[in-house]
Amino acid sequence: MSRHILTAVAWPYANGPRHIGHVAGFGVPSDVFSRYHRLAGNNVLMVSGTDEHGTPILVQADQEGVEPRVLADRYNRVIAEDLQRLGLSYDLFTRTTTRNHYAVVQEMFKTLYNNGYMIEQTTKGAISPSTGRTLPDRYIEGECPICHYDGARGDQCDNCGNQLDAEQLINPKSRINGETPLFVETDHFFLDLPALADALGSWLQTRTDWRPNVLKFSMNLLDDLKPRAMSRDIDWGVPIPLPGWEDNPNKRLYVWFDAVIGYLSASVEWARRTGDDDAWRAWWTDPTAESYYFMGKDNVTFHSQIWPAELLGYDGKGAKGGRPGIFGELQLPTEVVSSEFLTMEGRKFSSSRSVVIYVRDFLDRYSADSLRYYLTAAGPESNDTDFTWSEFVRRNNDELVAAWGNLVNRTLSFTAKNLGSIPAARDLTDIDRQLLDTTKGAFASVGADLERSRMRAALTESMRVVTETNKYLSEQAPWKLRESEPDRMATILHVALQAVSDCTTLLSPFLPHSSQQVHELLGRDGVLAPQPALREVDDLDGGPAYPILTGDYGLDARWESTEVKVGTPVAAPTPLFAKLDSSIVDEELERMGGE
Ligand code: MF3
Ligand code: ZN
Repeated sequence: MSRHILTAVAWPYANGPRHIGHVAGFGVPSDVFSRYHRLAGNNVLMVSGTDEHGTPILVQADQEGVEPRVLADRYNRVIAEDLQRLGLSYDLFTRTTTRNHYAVVQEMFKTLYNNGYMIEQTTKGAISPSTGRTLPDRYIEGECPICHYDGARGDQCDNCGNQLDAEQLINPKSRINGETPLFVETDHFFLDLPALADALGSWLQTRTDWRPNVLKFSMNLLDDLKPRAMSRDIDWGVPIPLPGWEDNPNKRLYVWFDAVIGYLSASVEWARRTGDDDAWRAWWTDPTAESYYFMGKDNVTFHSQIWPAELLGYDGKGAKGGRPGIFGELQLPTEVVSSEFLTMEGRKFSSSRSVVIYVRDFLDRYSADSLRYYLTAAGPESNDTDFTWSEFVRRNNDELVAAWGNLVNRTLSFTAKNLGSIPAARDLTDIDRQLLDTTKGAFASVGADLERSRMRAALTESMRVVTETNKYLSEQAPWKLRESEPDRMATILHVALQAVSDCTTLLSPFLPHSSQQVHELLGRDGVLAPQPALREVDDLDGGPAYPILTGDYGLDARWESTEVKVGTPVAAPTPLFAKLDSSIVDEELERMGGE
């Protein structure tokens, strides 16, 4: 039976171009996962967009001297283009400044409020004594009251991972000018997490197959739940849909309250754009639907606590009861799939210190599939990992070029030169059968890894099949049999071409661009690895037009071995991947500023 799978991908801030650390965390893994599930015959809905509210946008807009909207427009487009070039197959990549998003966010807020889970409280907010403007939490620094780390931010301590209020910091200072902030009284809406704690706990207890570190972290968050502010003294964001608040230009919903709702609003927008307004429901209100959320580890709190709490409150499932709003009862995440961090040549990514490589610049010089390969094979799936140019060159040359590229090349070239088309097999030997069993069997083992979001293991297993096939070819040496045993030579080539064909399907979630090429070289029909398109669209509710990523991801292939068609003409291929000269290591390090 075909399943409904929601691939919910973290929303990148539209405050600058994204670097490869970002796409290592949320981008490539979610796309591999979605491509696999589509091949497996499931109904995938993959959504995301740019996250365009909050202080990250305001601060950068200030720096670039433009309005927040102009900044958001600029980077929304840059990011959408980059993700397209990387081949990320979003059904919809949109943004949080659409009218549709505002409406969905306000519906969530109103229902949470009506159900009693949004409570109004007077609290202390920081302002800058010299300017009189509100000082966002993340621009306040001080000593963590929990672990006593000295560089904790007003919203979070990066040392112990706890969420903080700026007011709790010991010896708080403004990161902008070092002055001590002034805390003044201000009214805000708080999500009543204590009233949702039991429901959250019972739900988390059912999530036994999450990655252990994510589950443990999420469980620990439950220990000390306090109401959490979901509005801000800020003039950029979604207005609070209540009388007395709505028209106040200086009160807005907190960026994280609205951003996580993006998964739902993007699904609704996608449905509206297909012409079936209710199509999103199959992924959200059907209890058998599954949802997988992909992100870097700094986003876990918001996906395993805040978002589920918003959903439980919306559904009326907390201690205060209540009932769902117009969307009906919404399903909680099946799994929060978080990755660890990527560093760059031993250091933290930092645009200001040019310890960075932007996706755009990377793709101007190297292929999308090389980057996808590297990030899957050596990325931060389960530990922090380090990107180094020398490792990138090594993996590209030794694995992509020498193992997979070369296998495709020598099998197809030799067939083209000696036979011109895919030959039939005569009598299969045990060794032939063994190889074919291996390639066929890999669909189950690689698939099982991908089901569990173990992308790295899945890629390793697929590459093992490539290695086996290379070994088979070298041992069977069809080139020695041209004169003496042409039938045996044809059989070997048939088997090798079948193995290449299977490897192409197995590798297609990871390497969509080159896999589609091999698929066509083998004369297989239609689409194996479709690509996203960038389209300019009108806002559905009269707002300004914007670009989206979307695509037609209907496939002519399945996650299974498909028999190659005997007689298909085979031409000699051009190399699939470029071998990189080792001199690029120094060039790239130079670009990064020496060292
Ligand atoms: N913009 C946030 C970040 O880059 C991630 C938001 S994920 C969301 O850290 F879904 F909540 F939007
Ligand atoms: Zn701390």
